[in-house]
Amino acid sequence: MLLKTVLLLVLVAQVLMLDNGLLRTPPMGWLAWERFRCNTNCKEDPKNCISERLFLEMADRLAQDGWRDLGYIYLNMDDCWIGGRDASGRLVPDPKRFPHGIAFLADYAHSLGLKLGIYGDMGNLTCMGYPGTTLDKVVLDAQTFADWKVDMLKLDGCFSTPEERAEGYPKMAAALNATGRPIAYSCSWPAYEGGLPPRVNYSLLAEICNLWRNYDDIQDSWGSVLSILDWFVEHQNILQPVAGPGHWNDPDMLLIGNFGLSLDQAQAQMALWTVLAAPLFMSTDLRTITPQNMDILQNPLIIRINQDRLGIQGRRIRKEKSHIEVFVKPLSNEASAIVFFSRRTDMPYRYHTSLARLNFSKSLTYEAQDVYTGDVISGLRVDTFFTVVINPSGVVMWYLYPIKNLEISQP
Ligand code: GLA
Repeated sequence: MLLKTVLLLVLVAQVLMLDNGLLRTPPMGWLAWERFRCNTNCKEDPKNCISERLFLEMADRLAQDGWRDLGYIYLNMDDCWIGGRDASGRLVPDPKRFPHGIAFLADYAHSLGLKLGIYGDMGNLTCMGYPGTTLDKVVLDAQTFADWKVDMLKLDGCFSTPEERAEGYPKMAAALNATGRPIAYSCSWPAYEGGLPPRVNYSLLAEICNLWRNYDDIQDSWGSVLSILDWFVEHQNILQPVAGPGHWNDPDMLLIGNFGLSLDQAQAQMALWTVLAAPLFMSTDLRTITPQNMDILQNPLIIRINQDRLGIQGRRIRKEKSHIEVFVKPLSNEASAIVFFSRRTDMPYRYHTSLARLNFSKSLTYEAQDVYTGDVISGLRVDTFFTVVINPSGVVMWYLYPIKNLEISQP
């Protein structure tokens, strides 16, 4: 009897768990929503409306402008692509805006070495009022996405009850698994339950989803970045431990390249999202992005830090009276990323500190590389005092690593 129960439990766990082996590091790519929203006016705005043209053009940019080779491989659709359901109940895209269908887009993405993400909603309607995935449609929609060779699904949660979501999100995980196609699964579930236990069960989420939106939608403003950051920091004791390879918290898209952030704020969002081990989904017009914004998003060292194989979410470790905050993300090979962040609104601030004050205790010699300037600071011991100059609403970000066996490695 006991054996039978154990076997049954193992079986149930296998069916429910999203055991797809995907996203061992945070996903990187492009997601349509923040910049292109639900613009369906292709008549007057053919370049920017939600249509296959937009995704084909972004695919080209991802492949040709260096993005893909740095890891930005997901080309993700969001709301407003659905035209309805056909006679057999299968989802179909809007025929005017996606005349060649989604399988065509997926093939195109794959031909360029990219992956295609799609959007659905666990509920009666998507947030913008398009057909949703009701409980009876979960299996069919998962199969449709797999048939189209889609690689990722963002499942939103508008127009559903908590009970429907509690049944539907795990059901979709199982349905995606059952298709046999590896499909990364982004769940908006916690964002609809207030983002915190007891209403949100993060151990369950980590088993069934690869990433999840915890909190509000990002908007194109610095205030929005701050409100999201504040919430993530306030609840870091809950959120930090639940992230790891294959299962990530998602503070939402990067605004870099759009209208709401200064360059310092853009650098700050990139640095803060990186130490939070957040998915790096750009949502900007890659056809017109400026070189400066590209430099921020394509910084190879920052990407390496975000993609560190340990996948440890960083934490805010200091909040000074001077309105300077310090975040640390532990990395492989005893390295760390440190973000010195200024919430000041006056002028560049000279912040004096030492590694000891930042909770480093090992008697090692460290070197730091400034991620944005490339400057190298060497000979740092835990008790060495140093100064970083941080711009208002900006950051200084360091990649810090111990210099090992100095004596031996010197010629
Ligand atoms: C919700 C989501 C957003 C976006 C829109 C689309 O608000 O949180 O990220 O997908 O729906 O309607």
